[in-house]
This record gives sequence, structure tokens and C-alpha cells, in this order.
Amino acid sequence: MALRTSPEVGGMGHSIKRKEDPRFIRGKGTYVDDVELPGMLYLDIVRSPHAHAKIKTIDIAKAMAVPGVLAVITGQDLAKYNLHWMPTLMSDTQMVLPVEKVMYQAQEVAGVLATSRYAAADGMAAVEVEYEPLPVVVDPKKALLPGAPVLRTDKKDKKDNHIWHWEWGDKAATDRTFAEAGVTVKQDIYIPRIHVSSIETCGCVAHFDKVNDKLTVWMTTQAPHAIRTVFALVAGHVGLAEHKIRIISPDIGGGFGGKVPVYPGYVIAVAASVLTGKPVKWIEDRMENLQADSFARDYHITAELAAKKDGTLTGLRIKTLADHGYTDAAANPSKFPAGLFHVCTGSYDLKAAHVEVDGVYTNKPPGGIAYRCSFRVTEAVHTIERMVDLMAHQLGMDAAEFRMKNFVKPEQFPYRSALGWEYDSGNYGAALQKAMDRVGYAELKREQAEKRKRGELMGIGISSFTEIVGAGPSKHFDILGLKMFDSCEIRIHPTGKAIARFGTKSQGQGHETTYAQILAEELGIPAKDIQVEEGDTDTAPYGLGTYASRSTPVAGAAAAMAARKIQDKARKIAAHLLEAAPEDLVWEPGKFSVKGAPDTFKTIQDIAFAAYTNHPQGMEAGLEAVSYYDPPNLTYPFGSYIAVVDIDKGTGEVKIRRFVAVDDCGNIINPMIVEGQIHGGLTMGLAPALYEEITYDEIGNIQGGSFIDYLVPTAVETPNWETDKTCTPSPHHPLGAKGVGESATVGAPVAIANAVVDALWHLGVRHVDIPITPPKIWRLLRDKGVNE
Ligand code: CDP
Repeated sequence: MALRTSPEVGGMGHSIKRKEDPRFIRGKGTYVDDVELPGMLYLDIVRSPHAHAKIKTIDIAKAMAVPGVLAVITGQDLAKYNLHWMPTLMSDTQMVLPVEKVMYQAQEVAGVLATSRYAAADGMAAVEVEYEPLPVVVDPKKALLPGAPVLRTDKKDKKDNHIWHWEWGDKAATDRTFAEAGVTVKQDIYIPRIHVSSIETCGCVAHFDKVNDKLTVWMTTQAPHAIRTVFALVAGHVGLAEHKIRIISPDIGGGFGGKVPVYPGYVIAVAASVLTGKPVKWIEDRMENLQADSFARDYHITAELAAKKDGTLTGLRIKTLADHGYTDAAANPSKFPAGLFHVCTGSYDLKAAHVEVDGVYTNKPPGGIAYRCSFRVTEAVHTIERMVDLMAHQLGMDAAEFRMKNFVKPEQFPYRSALGWEYDSGNYGAALQKAMDRVGYAELKREQAEKRKRGELMGIGISSFTEIVGAGPSKHFDILGLKMFDSCEIRIHPTGKAIARFGTKSQGQGHETTYAQILAEELGIPAKDIQVEEGDTDTAPYGLGTYASRSTPVAGAAAAMAARKIQDKARKIAAHLLEAAPEDLVWEPGKFSVKGAPDTFKTIQDIAFAAYTNHPQGMEAGLEAVSYYDPPNLTYPFGSYIAVVDIDKGTGEVKIRRFVAVDDCGNIINPMIVEGQIHGGLTMGLAPALYEEITYDEIGNIQGGSFIDYLVPTAVETPNWETDKTCTPSPHHPLGAKGVGESATVGAPVAIANAVVDALWHLGVRHVDIPITPPKIWRLLRDKGVNE
């Protein structure tokens, strides 16, 4: 994209430094735990050691005797106000605090309120709960067997652990492609339960001001407006009306989807503040965060792919069990219980596809959150990219050549997929070719052949993913009925400086910089002169928040549209000042000049001043605009990643020698920020590929509840990412931009998995589930007779 503004103005395409960084690198950010209010109380939470157990008694006497402890809040207390249960984002129900039984290990059992954090922790340890263990269901397959204990006994008519069945696509047509196929492949794929592990855990400070009847909550939330509405709907009957609720989402240390749900701790803190009239702070510790907050993935997939003998792909068939824990608390758009999993035909021109997903209850924490992912697109990409690789290997074709043959071609866009999505634009072959050139694909293939002769294990893995971001067109996308538009409100001050507020909320992505750049591009006001604010429901326009890489596609577009409204009014003011007809003026970022007389002009700063001092008679004063943008379509960023791995035969360790990532997110606002997003995303993709997984033993004990055994990669494990790009603008986005935040997390794990299988294919290995740990590979090699 050609630059239209100078580096001083800093519009689109300039790698200007992040405006938020001076406060972050000086340790001057304001996170929830930095909020201190006079008279503040502290909340700690008693959690269940059992995965499924009746609560017989809760004895609070010893806790109440701890100096500083003021109250212990139980489910019985909340039940008096009908606040012991609350809705999930998928219209299921979840407990705030239990009255009868607990359903997963680390579930909230009671809240302890005290004058200091330490007293609250001591009080928490002194609460005595008597449990009666119940049979535990951990495996979703066993959960569906006849005779399995029914977990949701609170649902009167529920006779099993099945939550919902959802299917999409043309089953008959898909079955026909399989009946007529020259070759088919079938594979079970498990995408394990993982956790976002953001640097900052969750927490809030709730302050109910009894004088003004106003509740203010500083809260780690990615979607403050939606939270305000949910609070008003759930607690309206106890007097919390929406105009009396203010949610402030201050600086956030990483969200990645984990800070979209409403956790019980938030609600207990609010209830405690409403009851006491005092501010109440609740901050999770790391183990609570890892053990009890919403998880991601946990999809048990069986996939089949059909092709003609010449390697032309024809059909895809998928059946999946989605383990949702004890409640379906996924943050999906309501129409799609399996999120956007049905983008699983990926980058390939398949004629028919059919997907079935069944949601299942187990004794685990709730979830199905979109971990840096557009509502299950990671699961979709992992499946199709694994299957395409399997088919290429099965046919004895080169994996890159096979993809090139089957890609949706540039001239097919806009392209309607077999499962109904309309892809906006793409050039998949160009991205893959660039990645191949960059990595030296042909030379690597030669090296691999040589090494194989010597018995060395080297693999080359490709992932050519298509993403789907920017939820969304409101005709298809809502959360709890709230349509998924987003917003921007701009006010230009008389001296030509501006403030812009948004319905989204950055968690580290750099919105204060990139939104200012969009406005700089559209208005010619330097980005440094534009203050961007998000996250305060009393000031920002209503929006659905930041997750699933929707900020640029939706709120970024709202910024451009609001700026264009300002430009329209500015033209009229300029015409008045220049004594010319509005249509005789020419706009370039930052000024209107008279057609044919480029030296006769007014700058946006002149116009801003005139908007308050010398505006035309009959025109309202001021220069401001708001846009609520409802995108006509999603955006479909894409990329091709190539991983080169060497496997140590002695230890089973997978070493990533090279990783080349070519991304395409259309027009780029800030190349440096996009590169940072991709670096971070790739590392978050490496994590589940090789290290991270949460498992449970047969009685529901979490195995991975601390960083001792939940292995988040550090700089030591992280390879040198080599990044590059192609640019295929979105035809419907006002700036031609697509989202990018999650692309790398979505695309990276399967490139690594494919590289590992490629290294082991000649030994008869067809698939390895992630995380690909040294013991897993070591055992495989032992079984294949490669090591002892
Ligand atoms: O919703 P979220 O901010 O997580 O994701 P995003 O819209 O993909 O944006 C992530 C960051 O990359 C933001 O600072 C964007 O403004 C920036 N970005 C960009 O500079 N150019 C693009 N084409 C897409 C995103």
C-alpha cells in the first residue's frame, strides 16, 4: 500500500512507536490491582478439592475468628437474592456459589471478606467444608455412555450429559463425494485443553456508592459494555440499573479470550460491595487462574477427506465431541454453538463438506473460549491442514505442490465455501510461494532425502491457513442477543487536536497507536495529536469489545467511517472559509484546496478552529462524529507457514530449526505492531504444539494446575521467527485491512505437527497429537524400533 501521509503525520503504513509504551516500560500502567480505594476490603475464595461432591456443611466459625475477617459469603447467602446461579455467554447456566454440590476441582465454594489480603487468605484457609464425593466423569466419550452419572441434576429434565448437537453442510452431497472418491483418508485428532496464561490474572475492584446508588467496577474484561448490560439484566431485580453501573476496563495484561467470560469472583465481589457499601478487591492468584478460569479447545475430532486419484480434493466430513466441562460457557456467537469451526474447508476448493459437533458435560471447569482465535478457527485450521498433509503424503505428492493444486484460486474470489462462508479476497499460492522461496524449500527437500538415507530425522511442515475474523455482520452474529457491531466517536477540539473513543478494549495490542493512525490517515491530524480511549462504559460508545481479532475489521472500520463524516462537515466549513463551492475543493490528508489552485487551502486545524469560531450560519458548531459499524462481511486473512524440524532420536525432542511465516492481513496500519502481533502469536502457537496441555486424572484432579507442569515456553524454547508478508486488501473494509492478532496462533501449531509427521512418515507414523512432547516421540520411536 502506498503511503499517503508523512512520518510526522503517521497515517497507515508507518511503523510509529507505540503511544502506550512510555507508561508500560516505566511501570506506570494502571492495572486492576493498582486501583486502591479508601476503606477497601479484600475477597479471597474457598475452592473445592473435589471434582464432583455434595456440600454437606460449611462451617465458618473458625474463619470468622481470624482477625480482620468480616464475613463469609456462601451460596445460601446469594440464593436469598437469586444470585447463586447466572447465565453463561452461551445461554447455559453456571454457579456463582454452590448450594448443593460442586462440579469441578477448584470451583468456587465460598467468599471470605476481610480488611486485608492476608486476613482474607487466612480466613479462606479456616473455612471448613464437609463434602460427600460423587462419581466423577472426566472423559466426554464415557460421559455419553448409557448409565454415566448425570452431572447437571439442577436441570430437571436432563437425563444425560449431552448438551447439544449441531451440524452444518450438505450431508447427502458429501456422502456422495466419499462414495465416488478415488482415495480417502481418515484420522482421529485430539486438540487438547489449554489455558491462555496471560501475564495478568483476572480480578476486579467493585465499589458500590450507597449515596449515589452507583456501582463502579474496575475489571479485567475484554468486553466492558456487554458486561454492563449482563450485570443489569442479571441484577436489575436488586436495583442495579444499567445507568447506575459503570465498568472500567483499565490497562489489561493480556486477554486472549480468557477475559471475556464473567467469572464468579467478579459477581461475589460486586455482591459484597453492594451489601457492605465498601469497595471490594478480588485478584486471582496464578493457580486459581490456571485451574478455574475458562479453558480453550478440548475438541475430539474424527475427520475424513476425499480426493480424486489425480489429487483433486473433493469432500470433507468431520465429527467432533466438544468437552465443555460442567457448563457451556464458550464465548461464541449464539447462532454458532461450535463457533466458526465450519470454516474448516480452509484454503481449499472443496465441492462438498459436512460437519457435526456434539457438546458434552464433564466434571471440569467450563469453557470453550476463543483462545486468540476466532471462535474455534484454530481447531478448524488444525484439522484441515493435518488432513491435507495426510492426503498429500498418502498420494505420494509433495505437500506444497498438493496445496497449490487445490487452493481456491485468486480469480475465484469472492469465493463461497462448501460450508457457506463468503471469502472476501485471497491469493494463497503467492503466500506459499513466498514462504517456499524464503525457506529454500527445494534445497531443504534435497537435504531431507540425504539425511533420511543416513537415518536422521528431519521434517518440513506446511500450514496454509485461512482465517475468519471481524465478527461480525449483525445478521449472523450476536452474543446473548447483542448484535456484534462496533463503534468510534471522535471529537476534534478547536486547536485541531482530537479525542476518539471506541467500544473495543486493547489488552496489549496497541490500539492507542493504531486507531490514532487510522484517524491520521483519514483526517491528516498527526497521530500524536489524537488521544484514544477505550474501556470506560460511562464515556465510550457502546461496542462488543476486543476478541477474535475483531478490532481492526470492525472498530477500525468505524474509525474510518466516523472520520469520513467529519471530513464531510469539514469540507463545508472549508468551502465557507475559502468562499468556494464544496464540490470545487480537493481533499488530501490534512487539507482542502481549491481545484486548480493548490496554494489556496485550509488545513484541518484551520477548519477545526473555524468549527467553533467561524462556522457558516445555520450550521451546528463543533466537529465531531460517531459511527456504529456493522460490517457487510468478515475479513479472511491468510498465510503460509513452513516449519523445519530435527528430531533427536535419543530423547525424542523436537527442535525447530527454521520457521518462516508469511502473513497477509490486507492493508497494514502499523507494520511494526503487526510484526509484534505475529511474533507473539507464533510463540503462542508453539506452546500447544510442543508444551502446553491440561489433563485430569480419573477422579478429576487437574494435572497441570501450576507452571511447574503447565509448560509455557520461555525465550529459551522459542526459535527465531522469520516473518514476511503479502498484501491482498479486503474489498469491503473501508481501509482494505483485515485482522491479524490471532493469525499466527491459529496457523503455527499445525505447521509444527505436520513437520514432525513428515520427519516420521517413512517409519509408518501417520499422525501425532499435540503437544508433541519428548516422551511421546521417544515412545513412538521405540515402538517403531528406532531406539531402545
Ligand atoms: O482485535 P485485536 O486488536 O486483538 O486484533 P486486530 O484487529 O487484528 O489488531 C491487532 C493489532 O494489529 C492492532 O493494534 C491493530 O491495529 C494492528 N493491525 C494493523 O496494524 N494492521 C492490520 N491490517 C491489522 C491489525
